[in-house]
Amino acid sequence: MSKKLVAYFSASGVTKKAAEALAEAAGADLYEIKPEVPYTRADLDWMDKKSRSTLEMNDPASRPAIAGKVSGMDAYSVVFVGFPIWWYTAPSIIKTFLESYDFAGKTVIPFATSGGSGLGKTANDLRAVCPAADIKDGKLLNGRPSAAALGSWVKELGV
Ligand SMILES: Cc1cc2nc3c(=O)[nH]c(=O)nc-3n(C[C@H](O)[C@H](O)[C@H](O)COP(=O)(O)O)c2cc1C
Repeated sequence: MSKKLVAYFSASGVTKKAAEALAEAAGADLYEIKPEVPYTRADLDWMDKKSRSTLEMNDPASRPAIAGKVSGMDAYSVVFVGFPIWWYTAPSIIKTFLESYDFAGKTVIPFATSGGSGLGKTANDLRAVCPAADIKDGKLLNGRPSAAALGSWVKELGV
């Protein structure tokens, strides 16, 4: 069996819950992608054109710094990467994460939570910054999927 990691970013705790349940269902280790500078409530205000999240998401070159590192990344062949949908795609910090390691030969499986949007072209956005990985289309894990549902998704993926 391949060694699996669930790495996630969660600004307000929703994706964190999904990540914990998925790690349990997949028998994976868990790693939180923590921003060096945590996001405040004001930073997350998507109505504000000048908020940190708006500015980051409007700048394709934005790569918010991550505090810490995954230890022993080389040992993982499958990495689930979880995040909230921001502006119909992954937050910029996920690009930072994907550019921080050598993903050659690894399978990356995105998952997300959202206020209702789907993953859209998120997987393609991630493929563009991390061409070395085999990035699957992934899944939206809204509404607290059951352990059984998560387990059958992992089985379906064959990882
Ligand atoms: C800056 C920002 C942008 C967002 N953009 C979207 C969006 O485009 N579509 C959507 O359905 N939800 C959007 N949301 C809502 C989050 O995806 C949703 O609340 C998510 O579950 C939060 O996860 P978290 O608690 O792990 O951070 C956005 C939230 C923030 C803070």
